[in-house]
Amino acid sequence: MKMRLTALLLLCFSLLFASGQIIPKPLQSIKNSNAFTLDSHTRFYTDTPLAKTAVTYLQDHLQNASDYRLKQIDTPIVGTLHFHYAPQTVTKAEGYRLSIDSKGILIQARDRSGFFYGVITLMQLMPKQIWGESSVKKWRIEGIEIIDAPRYRWRGMMLDVSRNFFDVAYVKKFIDRMAQYKLNRFHWHLTDDEGWRIEIKRYPLLTKIGAVRGPGTKLPFSSFPTMRGPKDHVQRGFYTQAQVRDIVAYAKARCIEVLPEIDMPGHAKAALVSYPRLLTDPKDTSRYRSVQRVANNTLNPGLKSTYRFLDGVISEVVALFPFDYIHLGGDEVPKGAWNRSPAVKKLMQKHHLKSRRDVQNYFFTRVDAILKKHGKKMVAWQEVLQGSPKLRNEDMVMAWKSPKAGYRAIEKHRNTIMAPVQYLYFDQQYKRAKGEPGQKWSTPVSLKKVYSFRPKRTCCLKGVEACLWSETLLDEHIADYFAWPRALALCEIAWSAPEHRQWHSFKKRVQQFALPRLKVQHVHYRPVN
Ligand code: ACM
Repeated sequence: MKMRLTALLLLCFSLLFASGQIIPKPLQSIKNSNAFTLDSHTRFYTDTPLAKTAVTYLQDHLQNASDYRLKQIDTPIVGTLHFHYAPQTVTKAEGYRLSIDSKGILIQARDRSGFFYGVITLMQLMPKQIWGESSVKKWRIEGIEIIDAPRYRWRGMMLDVSRNFFDVAYVKKFIDRMAQYKLNRFHWHLTDDEGWRIEIKRYPLLTKIGAVRGPGTKLPFSSFPTMRGPKDHVQRGFYTQAQVRDIVAYAKARCIEVLPEIDMPGHAKAALVSYPRLLTDPKDTSRYRSVQRVANNTLNPGLKSTYRFLDGVISEVVALFPFDYIHLGGDEVPKGAWNRSPAVKKLMQKHHLKSRRDVQNYFFTRVDAILKKHGKKMVAWQEVLQGSPKLRNEDMVMAWKSPKAGYRAIEKHRNTIMAPVQYLYFDQQYKRAKGEPGQKWSTPVSLKKVYSFRPKRTCCLKGVEACLWSETLLDEHIADYFAWPRALALCEIAWSAPEHRQWHSFKKRVQQFALPRLKVQHVHYRPVN
């Protein structure tokens, strides 16, 4: 009896502490007393092409950190790193089973992502130097058995590149760091009032005019949102289509889908100043400002040319992004937009639309049909659910104003992503303190606050996403500071079972393991005290 109790206690102990290095916390893990040493003599064997992404990622890191790659062999002998296709053993999508002992390493999975996440976990069990450049040649890895799979399929991070532009190198860093924590949806906020950042060949002025901001340009916002660099400076930047393709491929090599956002009908000042003749009703005398105080920033749903333009833009966007979804914005259409537009008045009469909401719903029904024609589904901010929109069941809503807003969308049987500002807007201050950078228009979002978010499990809830809006992201250091370590809490909310999550254990893992790993990679994270 006593023996059995001791064994049970030992088991509980190992379950609690074995996976101490791993973020997000795995479903199950049990340590063993063996260890494996991986070095240049280690060989790898795979019985499936699904392991290719994982193998390449590991090999690239070994090359960087140790200056060698593992050679492949065609029989799984003792002492190898073995990738095994095992749909009977691993039943969940993106799941994996990792077994390490003195005889070798076995990673089993049923899909590309599962093998990739098996490798990510393996690398987290290796000394932190594997994430950087080093002279380490031998990697001792403690024995362990891990069974793991994610809670949510959608584990996202958004980067706003409109308010302040980030170059290709930073976007890649952002994506790579996401992948290291098993986040799998990169939401790329490409257009807004302050800049249009993606090349559209049919409409070259979008980037010639709409991607240039500052004195003497058509986007001369002076104080808010803040521009990077001195006030008399002109800021420009956009991604060519070749660069977009390169970034999408980079993300794919890390099992990340890229969700592009073309924000409409509000937040469209950059498009409006680029193509005013096409996008504005000449007789419209409406005068209004957005909540961010940008004047007259909204596309006109009463003009045929608006839809022609959007069809043209969308057809180029869908050709660049293989993901099933495109984000079409829908947030914060300012009060007063369209009030005095004869084109909108005519549209309302023709289609018996009674209110601004009806007009917005009409607009989204039409742009959703454009997406459908191009074989894509829509993601949009929660505002698209005002009134009775006619959207497709497979479309997805992002709830940003509160968790309650998300549950309201779920009650309407809408596929929903939770991105509530109170927990997941990473541009908000960590805490109210003098000198603390960040936005103050919502509550502070501390690391603990992010970690405390526990969305209820329902079938329409597809996942969680954090948003990094860039009004105050004046350089990459600040961007890093806002994102890390909060993204560590995000990944654990998105991946790990809530009953296995515990703040003090998480904080310890962050301090002991995750922050040193981020340091190796020169991430300018905010210290955890
Ligand atoms: C938003 O924060 N306007 C989605």
